[in-house]
Amino acid sequence: MKAPHLSLVLSALTAGAFAASAADWQKRSIYQVVVDRFATSDGSSPPCFTGDRRYCGGTWDGLINKLDYIENMGFDAVWISPIVANVAGNTSYGEAYHGYWPSDINNLNPHFGTPDDLKNLVTALHGRGMYLMVDVVVNHMVALPDNTSASTAGVPALDYSTITPFGTSTDYHAPCFIQDYNNQTDVEQCWLGDVNLPLADLNTENQTTVDIMYQWIGDLVKTYDIDGLRIDTAKHIRKDFWPGFASAAGVFTIAEILEGSTDYTAPYTQVLDSILDYPTYFALTDGFKSASGNLSNIANIITQAQKSYKGGAFSTGAFLDNHDQPRFASTTSDQSLVRNAMVLPYIHDGIPIVYYGQEQGFQGASDPDNREALWLSDYVDDPAQRPLLDQLGRLNAARKAAISAPGYSFLESPMKFVSPPGEAPTIAISKPPLLALLTNLGNQSTVVYGLPDAGLGNNTAVIDILNCAQWRTGETGEIHVKREHGMPQVLMPASVLSAMNSTLCRDVVTKLAAGQGTDSGAPRENRQSLVAIMFAFVVTGLSMMLV
Ligand SMILES: *[C@@H]1O[C@H](CO)[C@@H](O)[C@H](O)[C@H]1NC(C)=O
Ligand SMILES: *[C@@H]1O[C@H](CO)[C@@H](O)[C@H](O)[C@H]1NC(C)=O
Ligand SMILES: *[C@@H]1O[C@H](CO)[C@@H](O)[C@H](O)[C@H]1NC(C)=O
Ligand SMILES: *[C@@H]1O[C@H](CO)[C@@H](O)[C@H](O)[C@H]1NC(C)=O
Ligand SMILES: *[C@@H]1O[C@H](CO)[C@@H](O)[C@H](O)[C@H]1NC(C)=O
Ligand SMILES: *[C@@H]1O[C@H](CO)[C@@H](O)[C@H](O)[C@H]1NC(C)=O
Ligand SMILES: *[C@@H]1O[C@H](CO)[C@@H](O)[C@H](O)[C@H]1NC(C)=O
Ligand SMILES: *[C@@H]1O[C@H](CO)[C@@H](O)[C@H](O)[C@H]1NC(C)=O
Repeated sequence: MKAPHLSLVLSALTAGAFAASAADWQKRSIYQVVVDRFATSDGSSPPCFTGDRRYCGGTWDGLINKLDYIENMGFDAVWISPIVANVAGNTSYGEAYHGYWPSDINNLNPHFGTPDDLKNLVTALHGRGMYLMVDVVVNHMVALPDNTSASTAGVPALDYSTITPFGTSTDYHAPCFIQDYNNQTDVEQCWLGDVNLPLADLNTENQTTVDIMYQWIGDLVKTYDIDGLRIDTAKHIRKDFWPGFASAAGVFTIAEILEGSTDYTAPYTQVLDSILDYPTYFALTDGFKSASGNLSNIANIITQAQKSYKGGAFSTGAFLDNHDQPRFASTTSDQSLVRNAMVLPYIHDGIPIVYYGQEQGFQGASDPDNREALWLSDYVDDPAQRPLLDQLGRLNAARKAAISAPGYSFLESPMKFVSPPGEAPTIAISKPPLLALLTNLGNQSTVVYGLPDAGLGNNTAVIDILNCAQWRTGETGEIHVKREHGMPQVLMPASVLSAMNSTLCRDVVTKLAAGQGTDSGAPRENRQSLVAIMFAFVVTGLSMMLV
């Protein structure tokens, strides 16, 4: 065989970006965007009433103009809502502004821009060293009812001719709505949606359909130089469809498996790179909803995920909010609880994913209320005015510093729970060089934590990167810290911040290095007594000690 010409080899190697793998994505933190609701092309702020479920005017071009806003918070990847053309016009549930009702997989949704606009977005992201994750829907296609033919099994007949390329009823599973979520065949072969808007369930048992989908995803990834895929409704397709799909895509895949049990979700980590970690999501939102939430269940579920997911929980998506679930901030008025819950995705083994608008304090509850137009916030990015944006910036910076900190292997070290078993209102999570101390006691509480070993070294100056308070571990690595208003703490050795030239708490770190630091320490009187116990907490007005 003749050796190929060198320049051909080189151009093959340099064509497009490299295919991003799970390992590449683990270092990232992802910002999730509903394109229609993020930014308009001309920067205008049209009204957008979520309850109307109509297109509000966001575009890929608008997103390009707001990448500074995203990057300045420390995110280095963006997940955008689905890009292909969707069912046109008004349905019983409004317009397809969210993108989850595909009707033509070979064309882009013209509401969001042209193919060149999407390519410009990718170029702009890659120019900043950021990744693009595209949301794809493979399970179903959507067409309006044809209004003339009789319905089958309660499913109205559809005008399949409006769908490309799957334009006949034979491309779909026989109509039936999913009845029994405990019957996996039902889940995979019956239809999502309802009598008002059936989601036509592609027959992914048919090899012709499978071949078309594999070809399509490979082409899509290459055409737009996509770095990763979020796969919608993945549990509604047989598991053995997915390895071929992932291989045709050739980039990182993360699947939506909307289910609370790791027994159910774990097998999907064998057929795709990763899953959005819904079991942890349910435990997290339940745990921090109020002081009656169960924090030890978070430890329990995460431990199960670490044991049962392929390669541990390392490439799962860790999130507090998304477009399908009520924003966490809609479930409590206590901002202290919101701040605590927001920390978990960052101390988690997986990849943190933040849903747009969290940083602005959006409080939309269920779909469609949780798809607010971000332009209505004016994109205020002053940390002094937007405490949640400030906190996200700190968490992104701390995780980034932790990932490359010399002497640690943050990404490869499974998170550990150092809080006691049982029903404590506090949880301590160690993933050196980070230690998170969280509570669900809320704003009215003052919490004193004592840990026999913080995992941060002995006799070490540590900083709470959320408020720059300084503390010091003891001679055997123990730590005692106190925090008012039930706020979360994320501790990190000052030496790591210094070695990484981090801008986090720079004044404090610099003073410490110059020997001018003041050790805020724990209340003196607590030091002795706390060594023997794992945790102590004090609730203002109701002094209690937990052993
Ligand atoms: C869309 O359809 C729904 C349900 O039929 C209806 O309530 C709504 O008013 C329609 N919206 C528009 C803008 O036509
Ligand atoms: C069926 O009726 C709805 C509501 O009147 C209409 O919007 C739609 O276009 C009709 N579909 C067809 C295929 O005629
Ligand atoms: C698979 O789908 C193709 C295209 O719609 C169709 O021609 C073929 O008959 C189907 N095969 C089976 C076994 O149903
Ligand atoms: C499971 O669902 C399939 C598809 O709806 C159905 O044919 C089958 O009878 C169901 N099995 C059981 C045990 O109910
Ligand atoms: C809290 O979660 C743990 C671990 O899953 C469980 O053992 C315990 O029963 C739960 N407590 C309550 C009150 O539900
Ligand atoms: C907690 O409450 C105090 C007043 O009681 C308030 O000043 C502070 O902003 C609250 N903290 C949060 C995070 O909301
Ligand atoms: C810290 O102290 C503990 C307990 O004395 C000891 O086992 C450990 O080796 C010490 N770690 C370092 C880094 O010196
Ligand atoms: C931090 O800054 C120093 C001095 O400018 C430099 O030598 C070092 O390489 C920097 N370290 C990192 C991790 O950027």
